[in-house]
Amino acid sequence: MSGELRVPMSCRILLFPLPYQGHINPMLELASLLHSRGFAITIFHTQFNSIDPTKHPSYDFISIVDGTTPDQFEQDDILSQFIVLNNNCEGPFHDSLTKILDENKGVACLVADLHWYKMHAVAKRLGVASLVLRTGSAASLRCFITFPVLRAKGYYPLQESQKDELVTELPPYRVKDLIGMNNSNIVDLAMILTQDVEAAKNSSGIIINTFNAIESDDIKKLHQEFSVPIFAIGPLHKFTSQLQSSLLPPDRSCLDWLDTQAPNSVLYASFGSLASMDYGEFLETAWGLANSGQPFLWVVRPGSIRGTENAYMPDGFDEEVRGRGKVFAWVPQLEVLAHDAVGGFWTHNGWNSTLEGISEGVPMICRPYFGDQMGNARYVTHVWKVGIELEEKLERRMIAKAVRSLMREKEGNAMRERMRELRRNASDCIKANGSSYSAINKLVDHILSS
Ligand code: UDX
Repeated sequence: MSGELRVPMSCRILLFPLPYQGHINPMLELASLLHSRGFAITIFHTQFNSIDPTKHPSYDFISIVDGTTPDQFEQDDILSQFIVLNNNCEGPFHDSLTKILDENKGVACLVADLHWYKMHAVAKRLGVASLVLRTGSAASLRCFITFPVLRAKGYYPLQESQKDELVTELPPYRVKDLIGMNNSNIVDLAMILTQDVEAAKNSSGIIINTFNAIESDDIKKLHQEFSVPIFAIGPLHKFTSQLQSSLLPPDRSCLDWLDTQAPNSVLYASFGSLASMDYGEFLETAWGLANSGQPFLWVVRPGSIRGTENAYMPDGFDEEVRGRGKVFAWVPQLEVLAHDAVGGFWTHNGWNSTLEGISEGVPMICRPYFGDQMGNARYVTHVWKVGIELEEKLERRMIAKAVRSLMREKEGNAMRERMRELRRNASDCIKANGSSYSAINKLVDHILSS
């Protein structure tokens, strides 16, 4: 393609994804993109949520002993998992990186997830240029930087009584949209965000899976807030096809069922790779979907209903939705969203899902759970105006009403129209001279010149 730089065959990039689905996907998409530009690729991966090297024969893989035990990772507390992983992987990663440097493999740089703060420090100590990959939005990264100010101003710990107040330092966030796990330990959160921002400041560049048309103000502000270069090169999945990066096996039969449904008729409901709900919420969701009268495809991930090993559908549910509603454990989401039959997306607003929905022009029902998801939902509903937020307690009547509004009423049609524009923006930014395409050229140039 025109304007692309020639990469010396021996130039190798090391990549280290954080071992969660929402972080592995964008890192492997980036690997594929860099490989297509001529770089040799080495992927570091932990034993926890290990990537299968046989699915990526063009890359080298290095397994890092992470010393975790299954019970350590059973609990929902993602923050403490980040800390354990950083602490346990630091030594083994140091040894592996030293070894690969000794082998003179032409290492150009390391690209590691922003949350791998200790690995960035290791790279710095060993004199390897490191870039961070932020798998979330530009706005969420601004939330990380602003955290100390917000904490000093008393926003944290987040107070129920202030939840609807606007955060003047970070419009359009309300207090309840700020980053912070529902059950988060403020000390762990502060430590991780401080280390993350430090890693980003000391890096040789920040790569963000976003694009200019949806986050130009936040990207501009990041350029002012960091002195290192920023590369907004998303949506990364648009640069690749058919990546085998799923940790769970996707059930492709859902596509056959979608083929039998009318265009724009199906609501796709899926809450990502980590969020969980209690059994009461599960029942409300089931009956909300059933009572909406709309065809739906619902992903109920194993382990996503707290307190139950297997999520049995309530009595009468199967009869009620026969022929109209389908439940799967895991699906090929990109293909589902791209299917003509899908006309709406009930999502937890993980950043990947949000970008994937935008890229396919599918308007959303937003029900965020934790972390950056509330902020993403805020942008969907109040900045891009392409989604309805389900707030407060989950309740079947409210769900059915939201589904009907999105799928059949004026409100949903207007959102679908606005989504078409965002979808166009997403496909334009990856074309030659598009903002993300140009940012990738700059990134390649930057890697080769550092
Ligand atoms: C979490 C955070 O919420 C997210 O914002 C952060 O950046 C990463 O961690 P997660 O729950 O994994 O994310 O959601 P999301 O970011 O949406 O990623 C889920 C990925 O799994 C998506 O790429 C989606 O396509 C994929 N997926 C989901 C499937 O392939 N099949 C499914 O059935 C469901």
